[in-house]
Amino acid sequence: MKTQVCIIGAGPAGLLLGHLLRAEGIDCIVLERRAPEYVLSRIRAGVLERITVSLMERLGLDARLKTEGLPHDGFNLADGQRLIRIDVAGLTGKHVVVYGQTELTRDLMDAREERGLEVVYEAADVELHDIDGDAPWVDYTHGGTRHRVDARFIVGCDGFHGPSRKAILPRGKEYSREYPFGWLGVLADVPPCNHELIYSHHDRGFALASMRSATRSRYYIDVPLTERVEDWPDERFWDELTTRLPDEAAARVVRGPALEKSIAPLRSYVFAPMGHGSLLLCGDAAHIVPPTGAKGLNLATSDVHYAADALTAFFKAGDAGAVAGYSARALSRVWKAERFSWSLTRLMHRFPEDGSFERAMQVAELDYIASSRAAQTSIAENYVGLPV
Ligand code: APR
Ligand code: PHB
Repeated sequence: MKTQVCIIGAGPAGLLLGHLLRAEGIDCIVLERRAPEYVLSRIRAGVLERITVSLMERLGLDARLKTEGLPHDGFNLADGQRLIRIDVAGLTGKHVVVYGQTELTRDLMDAREERGLEVVYEAADVELHDIDGDAPWVDYTHGGTRHRVDARFIVGCDGFHGPSRKAILPRGKEYSREYPFGWLGVLADVPPCNHELIYSHHDRGFALASMRSATRSRYYIDVPLTERVEDWPDERFWDELTTRLPDEAAARVVRGPALEKSIAPLRSYVFAPMGHGSLLLCGDAAHIVPPTGAKGLNLATSDVHYAADALTAFFKAGDAGAVAGYSARALSRVWKAERFSWSLTRLMHRFPEDGSFERAMQVAELDYIASSRAAQTSIAENYVGLPV
């Protein structure tokens, strides 16, 4: 088939881009390796910046987000028993919205028929071809048949393990840091222990108290990379979590069976430039952040915002320069979010290689944040999302 844009990957980035292009009357197709149920089974963070909410509003797909999303005016850093509230709304005039990424993906998936967005699920063995020129093409296998898609642009929204970045790896530079721990996450149908998020730094390690709704909580603790989920029966998880949270919050933790339990490694990664020739990269295909700053989804959506802008300028205003400027524009925001996520990870976790001086620096930084409006404002403006 022939189209204007071929999008690889139907996670939040691919679906959001597809809807934005269709809303501009630009022809596109989305090729997704997995089945819809599998895509929805992936449990991911759920703190939405303004850019993410506004794109859903622009598409008119924010009905559920409006009724089920939880606006949050602040969050907390805890250091032992001390709770440092970052008054995001008071310091920036903006707020974040807590709404599961799975739900955002579901809203985008449910609207594909009515919006005329073609998504091919279970598209296997996607391969990219001729991306150096202006007539790239993709082929894939579906229903036992090999299919070909000719497009003017290909956009890789295929996540960290997809084929798009790999197709241009020699054309760019990788920047990477792997952290010496992972996050063990539990989803449970119990009321949250606190109405706002708590990121806790305890001598035993990191903990995060988050939520999906007033009746569903999401908790994390950091664990060595050698740990396996089987090593963590529910009771052991709840004991460790409540040890690491400040006593007042820990006393409000309601225990319940884990609906989902998994260990995710933490990594900072950027591939630059975010594209080559007729291929653009968006979201996890181009960069990864540790979940500490809740930036993963929001960086994917700001990439998509820039990509949709550039492709619309190309197809509707004949502005070829817009696509050429995509990578630099997206990377400018990506690097600042990478810095924030890395610095908050550095502040809130115990690193095996750290000595007493490094620990003293963490305590001093938390002391500084607790006592400085300027320090809290810096954290707040990064957490709520830097300007797009
Ligand atoms: N062919 C087609 N689709 C593929 C292929 C492939 N070879 N490889 C991967 N995919 C699909 C995956 O199945 C997935 O549905 O691409 C999609 C990528 O989605 P995400 O990994 O969610 O990445 P992205 O859309 O950029 O969203 C970033 O998701 O992983 C979280 O923490 C991340 O919150 C961030 C957000
Ligand atoms: C989550 O609710 O899953 C979550 C929230 C904030 C983060 C990371 C994960 O920084």
